[in-house]
Amino acid sequence: LKGEEILIVSNREPYIHVRASGGIQVQRPASGLVTALEPVMRACSGTWIAHGSGNADRDVVDSSDRIQVPPESPAYRLRRVWLSKAEEEGYYYGFANEGLWPLCHIAHTRPVFRATDWEQYRTVNRRFADAVVQESRTSNPIVLVQDYHFALLPRMIREKLPGATIITFWHIPWPNPEAFGLCPWRGELLEGLLGSSILGFHTQFHCNNFLDTVGRYLEARVDRETSSISLGGEATEVHRYPISIEWPPAMLAGLPDVAQCGADLRRELGVPLETKVGIGVDRLDYTKGILERFAAIERLLELEPHWVGHFTFVQVAAPSRSSIEEYQSLDARVRAAAQRINNRFGSPGCPPITLRIEHHDARRVYALYRGADVCFVSSLHDGMNLVAKEYVAARDDERGVLILSQFAGASRELMEALIVNPYDTEQCAAALRLALSMNPAEQRDRMRSMRSLVQEFNVYRWAGRMLLDASRMRHRRRLAGA
Ligand code: G6P
Repeated sequence: LKGEEILIVSNREPYIHVRASGGIQVQRPASGLVTALEPVMRACSGTWIAHGSGNADRDVVDSSDRIQVPPESPAYRLRRVWLSKAEEEGYYYGFANEGLWPLCHIAHTRPVFRATDWEQYRTVNRRFADAVVQESRTSNPIVLVQDYHFALLPRMIREKLPGATIITFWHIPWPNPEAFGLCPWRGELLEGLLGSSILGFHTQFHCNNFLDTVGRYLEARVDRETSSISLGGEATEVHRYPISIEWPPAMLAGLPDVAQCGADLRRELGVPLETKVGIGVDRLDYTKGILERFAAIERLLELEPHWVGHFTFVQVAAPSRSSIEEYQSLDARVRAAAQRINNRFGSPGCPPITLRIEHHDARRVYALYRGADVCFVSSLHDGMNLVAKEYVAARDDERGVLILSQFAGASRELMEALIVNPYDTEQCAAALRLALSMNPAEQRDRMRSMRSLVQEFNVYRWAGRMLLDASRMRHRRRLAGA
């Protein structure tokens, strides 16, 4: 790939500049996509094009809306695209997050499709296509298009840069044809995505769903043998690339040892050293199964009251998309559930649930992972879920138990976790009980296997496999004289 030009496009930017009392501050967003792509971008330089969403973002860019990042040691270029209020409303909050997000996550939240949102979605995809053309210095860059915000972008780029190799990665699930068929603009979305040279999903199941969806709604040739689709003479390969995290995670460097993190966490919570602590880390999103997790904790305390006062659960929930009603109502329900369970089972100084609805920086989250006995990931549906992999990566002491939803892509890889159905409260409560009493040897056996998997299949491997497939494709094209 030496000498190739690489451009990434995502909605969420890796660094957000905001005005604070002491001047301008840089924030890192809570986004699995950003967590995974940032180390890749640092390694391969290039240009990352994203929505400039911070209120001080404009103050720090040059006259072409560009800035070198990371701020502490610049390694690549961030090109910001500005969206008007109406564009952000329609494209981001509306079509992407009230339409496509619930459409693709089977979490029983009804998708909302407004023609005005769709218009803005198209307009914004067009704006990013223009930015890709402006930023690219060659006629055949490799462009990495990220996620459901940009289903139309691959075809728009293809029309303007026919020689580009376009790799699109869909970070969320792809549902079956019946479910996807609810979208009034399903045909346009599929045609847009098929402008890609390569289309990636986390699991084979989502690749198959995509092939079925295209087979159902488009006059395209779907070849299951090679997992490719031809539409109007153009081919798209559809493959599985499970995303991951960097190894070893940079966030671990300089953190206290596990015993110290455990002691610090308990001191902070005001509980005795021998108290068992569980942790959940999510964006405050209805796909994450936070209420189902709380129900399991409540059930455990009902069944085994001896845990009351001896087990406490810390739920970190980063506020997310809070101008959408569905998210506001979740916020209220999560707060109410925690309060109710704490009233019912609270013992002096040890509430069953400590809810922290705020943004935590990544280092702080790693310190929590290291201090907790159990990490509980109960997504109702999730493309991958990187929290599961981060917990495993944080435990270099080979201790701690991961409880993991079978509906998160991560459950296909982290098979030594305690795999649960988050809708099954009894099963989740039993998993919690097992986790809390698991002996150190079994914890170590499970942790070791999971750690070696995440180490081997780290995020560089994820990006490397996609880029290698792209480079093979380019090579074949050159040989064919195209
Ligand atoms: C999911 C999506 C990402 C998104 C992240 C955070 O992981 O796949 O594209 O960046 O959620 O959501 P937000 O809307 O805050 O970017």
